[in-house]
Amino acid sequence: MVLKKINKSDILKIYKREQDYLLKAIKKAKDPYHIFSLSTINNHHPESRIVVLRNVQINPLKLYFNSDIRSPKSIQLKKDRVCSALFYDQIRRVQLRFKCEVNIHYDNDISKIAWNKTALQSRKCYMAPFNPSSRIESWHPNIPIDCIDRDPTLDESNLGYNNFMHIELNIIKADILELHYDGHVRFEVLENNEINFLSA
Ligand SMILES: Cc1cc2nc3c(=O)[nH]c(=O)nc-3n(C[C@H](O)[C@H](O)[C@H](O)COP(=O)(O)O)c2cc1C
Repeated sequence: MVLKKINKSDILKIYKREQDYLLKAIKKAKDPYHIFSLSTINNHHPESRIVVLRNVQINPLKLYFNSDIRSPKSIQLKKDRVCSALFYDQIRRVQLRFKCEVNIHYDNDISKIAWNKTALQSRKCYMAPFNPSSRIESWHPNIPIDCIDRDPTLDESNLGYNNFMHIELNIIKADILELHYDGHVRFEVLENNEINFLSA
């Protein structure tokens, strides 16, 4: 039995490769990295949910997603500006876990660029009459009723901008796990680019 050899330059290549996969996933709805699990803190309790990856910046690595400013996740992130982001590619068997610090973009140059890239169809969600996740008396689609079977016009959709937040996640630690039958590969990358093997 020959033990495989993996050195630091190999894990650095894996990290670069995974950042490329993240970049490619932005525009591909079916890509496993297109959505991720975002965990925030709600009164000392962790709370997770799925969000869509909207942008990625490399060096330093930053991830971005959009949310309604009225949603519990947004409120939690405004209060505790930290979170964890978790991705998994089931085919390649790679998990990425990011420890993040949060920077919120609301009605600024960066949120405007993100809003302009948001399709009319998706802008509907930001026109929701009820605060996201609020209790309601009976079922409601929580989009403007007259937009049920059509996209809002550009003018109508701009009402949603008041509720639109673009959230930047600054990665302070990445934890990468690649599953293999002959021994998993796991390592961390710190903010200063220090890279360390971790036991799997
Ligand atoms: C596939 C999928 C993608 C989603 N993308 C987003 C997103 O990008 N932003 C967002 O705020 N909510 C998104 N959601 C909705 C949240 O996950 C949902 O609001 C969550 O269940 C509760 O959010 P809360 O923690 O803010 O109450 C998505 C849900 C699914 C199932």
